Amino acid sequence: MKEDIVKYSNKINDCIISNGEELESFRITYLGSKGILKNLFGELKSVPGEEKKEIGLLLNNLRVQAEEKFTIAKENLQTISVSATHIDHTRPGDQENIGAHHPISLVRKEIIDIFSRIGFSVSEGPEIEDDWHNFTALNFPPEHPARDMQDTFFIQKQDKEMALRTHTSSVQVRVMENSEPPIRTISPGRVFRNEAISARAHCFFHQVEGLYIDKDVSFADLKQTLLYFAKEMFGDKSQIRMRPSYFPFTEPSAEVDVSCSICNAQGCNVCKYSGWLEILGCGMVDPNVLKNCGIDPTVYSGFAFGMGIERITQLKYKVNDLRLYSENDVRFLRQFKAEI
Ligand code: DAH
Repeated sequence: MKEDIVKYSNKINDCIISNGEELESFRITYLGSKGILKNLFGELKSVPGEEKKEIGLLLNNLRVQAEEKFTIAKENLQTISVSATHIDHTRPGDQENIGAHHPISLVRKEIIDIFSRIGFSVSEGPEIEDDWHNFTALNFPPEHPARDMQDTFFIQKQDKEMALRTHTSSVQVRVMENSEPPIRTISPGRVFRNEAISARAHCFFHQVEGLYIDKDVSFADLKQTLLYFAKEMFGDKSQIRMRPSYFPFTEPSAEVDVSCSICNAQGCNVCKYSGWLEILGCGMVDPNVLKNCGIDPTVYSGFAFGMGIERITQLKYKVNDLRLYSENDVRFLRQFKAEI
């Protein structure tokens, strides 16, 4: 019987009581009317006289041990449940240190949203391009000086000379080659130019290309689309003006200025006191480009435009140094936390 008492004493010691159910089952097992202690005390009667005193003492100790275990566990469970119901709902919450979207991502998303509202889809192409998609199909003949307009990074890829795309106009070619008009798409992406890095130039930046091809697309459609974009992006009072320009892949071509939203076109140092800010290039897709991409220029016409995301971001958030976009300085990036 001594061994039994030692065994139960160890068991009580090791027993873990972590909830009300376990507490109750402990009580029934050891202290209940049909429990272990009751049984052991019953057996005491048959213990020989000379051992009775010693065993009786041990049994008593076991009972005290079980009762203490029960009382302490009960108190512990009560304090846990009391503290669980006493939550202070007025306590200020812990501050979560949330991140911020990169300003380029914010503006790219906004541009996509604006054009998707008038039915433009999004298409993408590779950053490593061949000569055909970056130049030739876009009406840059070989050796044509227009190729020098864009300082290109050439790279060798499996014996083929390739280039890091200098503009997202390469995606127009891929879209036209692979789909039938009507085509209404924008292509955001990263582009690369072999330029010295400064506040106003970088070796990589981002563009959004736009393309609309259908029957009877006119310059007036282009103008209205871009006016809509300017108003959505820079505010309802925005105006645009178009200046004649030259791009090999559009004819006629234009550069587009938006009225300066910083000074309400009154003149400031950002718009160099002209009231206008240059934001993009555009034009009617040259019939040669349509032909190169398998679209019949006698049936279809279209417009295209291309803008720099950094430029739009610079105007929207008044960032005056292009290098900030790729330096990952958290003091700069944190400022965009409030934007969605
Ligand atoms: N690809 C031109 C550039 O990188 C931008 C551009 C101008 C795109 C006129 C066009 C366009 O689609 O029609 O400077």
